[in-house]
Amino acid sequence: MTDAVAAGPWPRNATFDGTGLTIAGVPAAELAHRFDTPLLVVDEDDLRSRCRLVRATFPRACYAVKAFTSHSVVRIAIDEGLDLLAATGGEVEACLRAGAPASGVVFHGNAKTDDEIGLALDAGIGLVIADGLDELRRLDVAARERDRAQPVLLRVVPEVEVRTHEAIATGHDASKFGTALPAALDVMRAAEAMRGVRLDGVQAHVGSQVLDVEPFLRTLDTLVELAGRAKQAAGIVVGTIDIGGGFGVRYVDEHGFPIDVLGRALLARLAEGAERWAIEVPELLVEPGRWLVPTPASRCIESSRRRPWRAGDACSPSTAA
Ligand SMILES: Cc1ncc(COP(=O)(O)O)c(C=O)c1O
Repeated sequence: MTDAVAAGPWPRNATFDGTGLTIAGVPAAELAHRFDTPLLVVDEDDLRSRCRLVRATFPRACYAVKAFTSHSVVRIAIDEGLDLLAATGGEVEACLRAGAPASGVVFHGNAKTDDEIGLALDAGIGLVIADGLDELRRLDVAARERDRAQPVLLRVVPEVEVRTHEAIATGHDASKFGTALPAALDVMRAAEAMRGVRLDGVQAHVGSQVLDVEPFLRTLDTLVELAGRAKQAAGIVVGTIDIGGGFGVRYVDEHGFPIDVLGRALLARLAEGAERWAIEVPELLVEPGRWLVPTPASRCIESSRRRPWRAGDACSPSTAA
């Protein structure tokens, strides 16, 4: 199951034969005829398998709902035991509407409005990922007004470069997402002093469609080192380390992403790092989006309706489960 699921964007129940693409026994041409195109088809069995693999691999995982904010998809992620990552107030509402407990929703984003912060606090969102000092101050005021102490993670820029499209690389030192690494400790100190905020840990997200394991390990090392320094310099206990999402998928000729290999490597590295820095092992959190819903482009269905798939087509069937 793992190999087939990890190999490509095709759902595990996709098959190709002389008549074209079939998904879980239903010919794509029939779906296209019934619903018209463009059409996104989700193989529930495949989605659940992916959720289960993520769930079994990492201690805690949030589905980044921006990848596909479909009500049914979000409900399945909840049903399979994943928490949810929302990037906007609208996504927070979508998560709650789908039945997520507020405590299982994590709210991030680098441009949260005061209204969105208020919405998250009023809903009792479990964790907010703050980009920096300005946001922490706004959060602190809003939480104190509500007589609360909001659990937060501080997003930092880990200065890790990744091989992906430049528009979706977010871990390099010029990134506008998060607090610059050299300033992180001071911001953590400031957060610790805020009554309306409870600093639970640190987060980084290096980009999307990343196919190498190495950048995630380097990100983890950076965050563990920050946790160690925070403990040494200020007695700050980092309970959670969140390395973000961005695990790549196979669209055309990319290799698949070995999520289980990554999981094992991260956990081993986390234990080693915690020992080296003499800190309690923080809980590891990940935020996969695309990897859970690597929906093939609707053009595949389009082309299968017109004619059977042929070698050389953009969407290769060679990875069909
Ligand atoms: C902070 C954060 N986490 C997770 C994700 C999910 O990324 P992906 O869908 O590539 O896994 C994103 C996507 O932009 C993000 O910005």
